[in-house]
Amino acid sequence: MVTKEKIDALFNQLNDLKCQTQKQVEEARVRLLGRKGEITALFEEFRNVDKDMKREFGRVLNELKQAASAKIEQLKAATETVAADNGSNEDLTMPGEPQPLGSRHPVSIVRQEIVDIFRKFGYDVAEGPEIEDDYHVFEALNFPPNHPARDMQDTFFVSAGHINPLLLRTHTSSVQVRSMEKMDLPIRVICPGRVFRNEAISARAHCIFHQVEGLYIDENVTFADLKQAILLFAREMFGPDTQIRMRPSYFPFTEPSSEIDVSCNICHGKGCNICKGTGWLEIMGCGMVDPNVLEASGIDSKKYSGFAFGMGIERIAMLKWQVNDLRHYFENDLRFLREFDSAIEV
Ligand code: DAH
Repeated sequence: MVTKEKIDALFNQLNDLKCQTQKQVEEARVRLLGRKGEITALFEEFRNVDKDMKREFGRVLNELKQAASAKIEQLKAATETVAADNGSNEDLTMPGEPQPLGSRHPVSIVRQEIVDIFRKFGYDVAEGPEIEDDYHVFEALNFPPNHPARDMQDTFFVSAGHINPLLLRTHTSSVQVRSMEKMDLPIRVICPGRVFRNEAISARAHCIFHQVEGLYIDENVTFADLKQAILLFAREMFGPDTQIRMRPSYFPFTEPSSEIDVSCNICHGKGCNICKGTGWLEIMGCGMVDPNVLEASGIDSKKYSGFAFGMGIERIAMLKWQVNDLRHYFENDLRFLREFDSAIEV
């Protein structure tokens, strides 16, 4: 039977209704408004209400139903936020999960070391584009068209058949040219960067590698200055007892040109398998900047002279850590990279 007491009791129940979880809300909905719910039952019994009371009870019953639906909706929304905030039942007293730390790549470590050494000598860092034109990689460096020295560096062309084709730079000497074009004299720069050559990949060669180019131009720069700069660098890099040796060589952009060897830091000159029994390790090419190269970039070669040098970063890193296969540097094998976790000297 529908009675005023029953309806009041249900209003009170609604007022006091509290739920912590979505499951409890659903249970309350079924208990009140479900097919066999208490409010649904009152609607069934409404049929038996006296005619003159029907109007009054009908109104109150509808209010009760609406209040119950609103309350259920409100509880649903409230427990949803709780679920999102706290649903995973995380234990906030647990120790945090350690975030694995990356380490710097050996090539980056050595590049930074080389740059830091030359910075101490007063060199600035200069950078240039990896996609270069023929002029900056070859022409301005005294490689005339069809010069056989161009074959020393197998080139990836980006656009061919052009008078000044675009290509992937084969050496960072191109940044020498860009520095001479835009910097005021005297110039003292170090140019680290990535270079590309069309070479078969092996333990000793790769189609992508890194170089550091150095350039110093001023009045009265001599070969003795070059030798001193390289000696100081070699001693900073490989240790204070390091010796250097210069062997005559040829590069189109330097005259005279030389290759530099350092005394083997493994056997200290006695001969081992790293230096192939010679006691010496080749580390770079260098020379006095050819007057043609100075003039091509608008520098008066009667007044100014300079030296340049270029070295492969992977090569220096291989010698420093006795890595015998260049490919390790490009394969991102974590077992290899992790060995350099503690290689940064602070
Ligand atoms: N660019 C040369 C190369 O990639 C390296 C080099 C040699 C750079 C002699 C120089 C230099 O500046 O003087 O093989």
